[in-house]
This record gives sequence, structure tokens and C-alpha cells, in this order.
Amino acid sequence: MSENKYPHLFSPITIGKFEVPNRVCHVPTDISSANADGSVNQRVITYHEEIAKGGCGFIICGASTPDKKTGRPTVTCLAVDEDPLIPGLAELAEAMHRHGAKNSVQIQHPGRQAAWPRKDLISATDMVADIPASAGHEVVYAQAEARGKSIRAMSVDEIYDLIEKFAEGAWRVQQAGFDSVELHGAHGYLIAQFMSPYVNKRNDRFGGSFSSRMRFVIEIVHAIQFKCGPDFPIGIRYSGEEWIEGGRMLDESVQAAVLFEEHGVSFLDISAGIFEMPGPTMDPMYYPQGWNTYTAEEIKKHVKIPVITSHTLRDPDYCERILKEGKTDMVGLSRQMIADPYWANKAKAGKKEEIRKCISCLVGCWQESLMIKRHMRCAINPAIGDERFIDFKPADKKLNVAVVGGGPAGLEAARIATLRGHKVTVFEKSSELGGAILYCCTVAGKNKMRWYADWIRHQITKLGVEVKYESVPKPAELKKYDAVLVSTGSETVRPDIKGIDSDRVCTFQDVLRCKSKNCEFWPQKGKPEPAEVGDTVLIWGDHYGAADTAEKLGAEGKKVYIVTENASFASWMEPCHKDVMDKRFKGGQGEGLKGKAFAHPVTVIPDSSVLEIGKSGEVVLVNGRFERSTVKVDTVVLANVRENDALYDEYKKAGLVVTKIGDAKKVKNLRGAVTDGANIGLTITEDLRINANDEIIANLPTEIEL
Ligand SMILES: Cc1cc2nc3c(=O)[nH]c(=O)nc-3n(C[C@H](O)[C@H](O)[C@H](O)COP(=O)(O)O)c2cc1C
Repeated sequence: MSENKYPHLFSPITIGKFEVPNRVCHVPTDISSANADGSVNQRVITYHEEIAKGGCGFIICGASTPDKKTGRPTVTCLAVDEDPLIPGLAELAEAMHRHGAKNSVQIQHPGRQAAWPRKDLISATDMVADIPASAGHEVVYAQAEARGKSIRAMSVDEIYDLIEKFAEGAWRVQQAGFDSVELHGAHGYLIAQFMSPYVNKRNDRFGGSFSSRMRFVIEIVHAIQFKCGPDFPIGIRYSGEEWIEGGRMLDESVQAAVLFEEHGVSFLDISAGIFEMPGPTMDPMYYPQGWNTYTAEEIKKHVKIPVITSHTLRDPDYCERILKEGKTDMVGLSRQMIADPYWANKAKAGKKEEIRKCISCLVGCWQESLMIKRHMRCAINPAIGDERFIDFKPADKKLNVAVVGGGPAGLEAARIATLRGHKVTVFEKSSELGGAILYCCTVAGKNKMRWYADWIRHQITKLGVEVKYESVPKPAELKKYDAVLVSTGSETVRPDIKGIDSDRVCTFQDVLRCKSKNCEFWPQKGKPEPAEVGDTVLIWGDHYGAADTAEKLGAEGKKVYIVTENASFASWMEPCHKDVMDKRFKGGQGEGLKGKAFAHPVTVIPDSSVLEIGKSGEVVLVNGRFERSTVKVDTVVLANVRENDALYDEYKKAGLVVTKIGDAKKVKNLRGAVTDGANIGLTITEDLRINANDEIIANLPTEIEL
């Protein structure tokens, strides 16, 4: 191992009475992968064990309910509400201890934000919430009554009953052998509902003044101390700022920290936000690294117990710096550990470039999993939630694999197939690998996508995958390959309307093209320039290309219109991103983000299509009621996309063992593409066939003859 570049990151720290080997903390992450009764299973163990193997010093397991009956934050969260759950929890604790990590379980009651049950949700008050980005989103709406769903204020008896359940839950965590327990007082969940001046308008002893709003959590702390003894360390996670008008801001959070320390709390885990404001709560791509560090920094000045900061921490250099500067005692990583559980080992070994940095897309871990009641996944790490990708078996026989198209699906297929021992050749039409990911690189606020592009390109180089640039192979050239994977992505639709060939018309790919001539990833000469765009622009489409073009051009000060045939724009988008984007489109900015995003608000024209593009830029639109209107613009950007699968048909006719993956198969998103690529990379094995569903399969039993 090389010399330790990060002496602060890799120095021990004491929490309560135990020592943590380094300053890297996995902040609680509900992976919603437990059994239906909240018990631990192998998937939960594997997730946490990999992070412990990966060198993380302190692992706080995600939200675990103290009372399944009244609230689960996600349908398959962990539970700590029955003694029969203790043996499973003990196995979980042991699996982390085996690899040197200290640990904790976060106890959380979701209150109004429960994903389950669906009716009669308990809260500090009966305040109705509009929280479409929460995993409990379908049960808490502004129109809750109309939908027959309700939130009600807890009675004082119920509050005391639940305090007892929190304490019993903590006792089970202690019995299971965990080093500590954490209380979830952040993000608008039940404890936060009591703590927040925005939510808690009770006028009894549990609401109103600061000390009354803190009573619920403080009573829980006392009940745990009584049940588990004064030496069992208790941490509290809460938001340094809630980022909502009337919510708790930093000065009160400092006051809370002092109070918690006085009451014997052993560590503070400072988060951000409340779910009404999903931006700071879940930080989509727009949020820069460490944007929330200032809250821990301020709180740390007022207490002696360890303080953890979190939110968009990705780079070990940055983490080392804030530790060195004394802004925090520990760095808390959630999504980064999902994208790469081996972050700490890679940092310690000085192999920063090997870290698969989380791009904060929230697609795999949130939109397409917890929000829709599935086990957690990751857009860029296929091993999350799919253990087939951990330590997969090398192929018995080395095959020749052709990947046509060097975008995310093709590159992930190439990576996994090569790791399994196959010989892979990637044919790429352009002079650069990366495909559709690259379009985000030029969009302010979206360029974290470049991190993934660079990581996967680095892997392809490191693995020695052969790449043929500016190459579209003919069927004859592919005859020598055992399998052909068509990953040619999507193409922009060019409808046959009057004016489509005008100089004013370009595609979103033309606009989002990167300018840099001297890119290490563009080995060939002749990189095309991005398109020139006028001051007023109409974007026609409703997918990533349209949204990203609007953001890029909006940030450059252009006046932007978006035309979509749909009833609203970007209903497919991950909701935390959509919340921030919509605010930016309206002329504002996401909470916690600095400055104004665009000079002009972006105008969305829904339920409409383009009929004609006039010579002087008059674009004729028609809406769903067949009413026509005209917008005068300098540039029209085409951004509707469809599958680009012409090569697949050609190869299939030629009798090749071929399949299509990624957008070429169905236009989706990065997670869809990477998952497709990973799956086929794992499938390719001796004895390949095309099955009756037109998919490549292997390993049919020998008696099956086709
Ligand atoms: C899938 C997922 C599950 C989460 N579960 C929890 C949880 O159980 N408890 C909690 O306090 N925060 C939870 N969070 C929030 C994270 O701990 C963290 O504060 C947030 O993702 C921002 O930090 P990051 O950039 O390191 O991910 C969750 C976040 C995600 C994406």
C-alpha cells in the first residue's frame, strides 16, 4: 500500500466508549431490502458487509422501525420491534465487526411519511403535507382527504407508548451486539415532525416552545438510557437547516446540539432538509460537493461530542481537507457507498481514480426502487441488490464478443464480459467512448455524469478492451464473433414537416457536444464543434436531451421554450431533480443552491406539437384542441428520441448471434442501460443461443436440442 495521503481521514476517533478505526462513516441508508417482517436477510448482510470490507470505520444501518404497525418508512425497511428479530440483527452486527467496522442502527418512525400503512398515519400534528419525492409519497398529499388518506396528531398516551417502543428497539439493537444506536430526527420523519417549528404547532407539552418541541426526542434518549444503561452510546441525526419557511435554521440546531450533549448524547449526525423541500434533503446532481459542511462546522464549535457531516461527499481530497480544517469529526457517505462500497480502501491505497463516484442521479437508489416499493438498486453499480455481480464466476471458455456502440450499455457489457475472461472488441462510430452520458458533461449542474464516463472509460483502458473508433462493422466482419451486442443507443427523430431542413434546426446532440479539443478520450482528429444557437430557442422533445438542453441554454442566458406533446414536461424525471429543475425553470433556484439559475424563466408549452418551421423562425404549433399558435425563435432543437436499432436487424438477417441492449432496445435511462449491459456481460458463456424471445441465453440443459 502506498503512503497514506489522507492522515486525518484514516486516524481513529472515540465515540462514547468505543474507538472507530477511521473517520469514514456510512450515514444511515434504508436499502429497503429486509424481509417483509423487517427481519435481516442475506441481502442486508451482504450490503453492509461489503462496506465493512471496503474499510468504512463506522456503519450506521438505515431507518429501522420501532413499530411496524404504525409506520414503516419503506415497505421492506428493517424493524426492531420484536425480540425474534434479534438473532438476525446479531448476524448483521457480526458481519460488519468481522471486518473491523464499528456500527449502529438508526431507529426511525416515519410518522406522516410512512410508506406503510396507508391509512391513519400518526404525526406530531394533523398538518397535511405535499411530498411527492418521499418514499411515502402516495399516502401524503395535499388532497389527502379526497383520496381517503389521513394524518392525525398523536395523543399524549400514544406518544409515551411510542417513546417506550423506541427504547425497546434500542435495547434489541444493544442485545444484538451493535456498538450504538442512532435516532432519526431529520428529513421530516416523526422525531423531526416534533422538533420542527414548521410542523409542530401543538399547544401541549410536546409542542410550541423550543424545549417542548425537543421533549419527544429527549424523552426517548432518557428511556433508552434507562433501558440500555448510561454507557450505551446514542447518536442523533437531524437537519442543520430544514430549508423551509418557518422551519428550523442553524441557530436553533446549535441550541439543540448543546441540549443533546447535556442529556448524554454521544454523537451528532448533521444532515439537511425536510421532505417538502427534496433538494437539500436528497441533494440531486445540482448540489456541489460538501454544500452542507457549514452546518456541522458551526455546530461543532459548540459541542465536544463527535460531529458527522454528510451530503454530496465524494472525493477523499475534499474529505481530508474538511477534517484537517476541523470543520467536522467524521465524513458521512450514503450514496457514495452504494456506488462504491470500497471507497475507503481505494482512498487509503491512493487509488482515487478507481473510485466509482456517485453521480447523485437518485434513479436507482430512489426513483426506481424505494419510491416504487422495490429493493434498492444503483444506476452505476449493478451489484447493489443483485449479488450475482459480487465475485462473479469467470467464464469456462473464452469467447469473442463484439460490442457495437460505446455508450454506457456497451461499455458495461464490455467491462463485465472482460472481467469474466472473454475477449471483447468495442466498435464505436465516433472517436470517443461514452455515448449519451457525454451530453450531460456540458450542462452546468449535471456534469457529475462525467465522473461516471471517466470511470468506465478508465476501466475499459485498464482492462485492455480493444476499441475500434470510427467504425461501424458490416455483418461479414462480425462472423468471427461468438456474440454481437448492439448498443447503438437512441437517435433523434426528424419529423417530415415543412422547414425541418432549415439552418435554424439542429439536434440536442449538436448543442450539447463538448468543445474541448484536447480531450484524452478523443484520440482521433476532427472533433466537431457544438452548434451555434441564437438568443431565443425552441426545444421540441420530452426526454433527457430536452431537459439538459434547456438547462444548458437557460444557464447561458438564452430565452427557452420547450414544446411537448405530453400534458406536462418531464413526468419521467426523478422527482427530487424535477422539483429543483421546475424551480429553476420558473426563475428561482433549488434551496441551498446559490445564485439565480437562469436570466429568463423557461416556458413549457405542454400538450402541443410543431407543425411547421417558417423561414424567419416562426414556429407553428398545434395543441390537443387543434388550436394553432406561433412562436418566433432563432433556433429549433430537436430532442425527441427513439431506439436506434437498424444495425440489429441487419445483423440478425445475417444470422449472427446478436442481441440489443440499452437505448437501442428501449429508450430508458442510465440505470436501464448499465443494467442491460451488466446482465448480458454475465450471461455470455459457452453454448450461446437466441431464445424464442430473441434474447441471448446460455447453459440450456444438454438434452434440449434447438
Ligand atoms: C436510498 C436512500 C436511502 C436513505 N435512507 C436514509 C435513512 O434510512 N436514514 C437517514 O437518515 N437518511 C437516509 N438517506 C439520506 C442519506 O443518508 C444522505 O443524507 C443523503 O443521501 C445525502 O448524502 P449522500 O450524498 O452521501 O448520499 C437515504 C438516502 C438514500 C438515497
